[in-house]
Amino acid sequence: MNLVQLLNNLVNNFKEVIYRKDLIKLSSLYNDVKWSDNHRFAQHYQKHFAPLRLKKLKILEIGIGGYDDPKAGGDSLRMWRSYFPNSMIYGIDIVDKKSLESNSIQIFQGSQEDKNFLEKIIAETGKMDIIIVDGSSVNEHRVKTFNILFPLLNDAGIYAEENTHISYWPSLGEKWSSLSEKSVFLSNHVNVGGSIDLNASHTIMAMYKRLTDGLNYQEFLNPGYSPSYLDKHIVAIHFYHNLVITYKGNNNEGSNIIENNTLQPSVLEILGVSSLEELGIKFPEVDLPSRQVMDLTTNIENK
Ligand SMILES: C[S@@+](CC[C@H](N)C(=O)[O-])C[C@H]1O[C@@H](n2cnc3c(N)ncnc32)[C@H](O)[C@@H]1O
Repeated sequence: MNLVQLLNNLVNNFKEVIYRKDLIKLSSLYNDVKWSDNHRFAQHYQKHFAPLRLKKLKILEIGIGGYDDPKAGGDSLRMWRSYFPNSMIYGIDIVDKKSLESNSIQIFQGSQEDKNFLEKIIAETGKMDIIIVDGSSVNEHRVKTFNILFPLLNDAGIYAEENTHISYWPSLGEKWSSLSEKSVFLSNHVNVGGSIDLNASHTIMAMYKRLTDGLNYQEFLNPGYSPSYLDKHIVAIHFYHNLVITYKGNNNEGSNIIENNTLQPSVLEILGVSSLEELGIKFPEVDLPSRQVMDLTTNIENK
């Protein structure tokens, strides 16, 4: 290391101490990982993570960066380590990034849509408190990952989904399919699988849009409705440009006038009827929130 490098390191170490509570500034020391033109994430993370900064947490980021180069990437993991000094930081990438492991940073190689792989990691590390997803650009992978990992978050855990723009980008056609074999980067971007149709039901944004109705499942006038795991365990969903932040908890606040998805007996009595049908209300056949999402996995109820 020459003198200039040594001085640069000293300056950076100094800045790291000064910037330690400010994610926007801290990001600047790590190639602006969470603060660039279409990645204005640091400001939102700051708001959600500041109260947790000094806690002893388990934090997982999927997608370490650098794609096919095993030695490249890791900036966001290092930034989280700086910001959360008492936490353990875990990273997952489909490419072997083990050489980027260091103090408080543990790395696993595998795909974010591989249920066995993800469950094995959590069995080894214990449940996570924060999960940040910045890996595959394929919508189907993102939906699967959420369904596998959200139930494996601790109570009051936070699940952050970055780069939701992939919802709006369709896969490229046959003509480009051979590019997929060339690199992880190209494979991700050829097979995004989003849609220009804003009503498409399979994208990662469609999943979150449906889950927002689940927040209010106790208000549905649908006698016999059986809430899903996600209905019962999502307490907040925050939407930002390219970023969705979901909170886990007990979604059991209850409703003013609805009980068991029908009007409370006292309300029916006031109205002089014994059922919703007598009022002419029948819940339509709809794509119920979180039902379609749930079809992708099984046994979540038992987690
Ligand atoms: C955008 S980069 C991550 C950048 C990093 N999080 C940061 O903030 O600096 C995406 C990474 O996801 C990885 N990736 C792609 N497909 C994946 C998959 N199916 N499972 C896990 N990682 C994947 C890529 O190898 C790449 O390194």
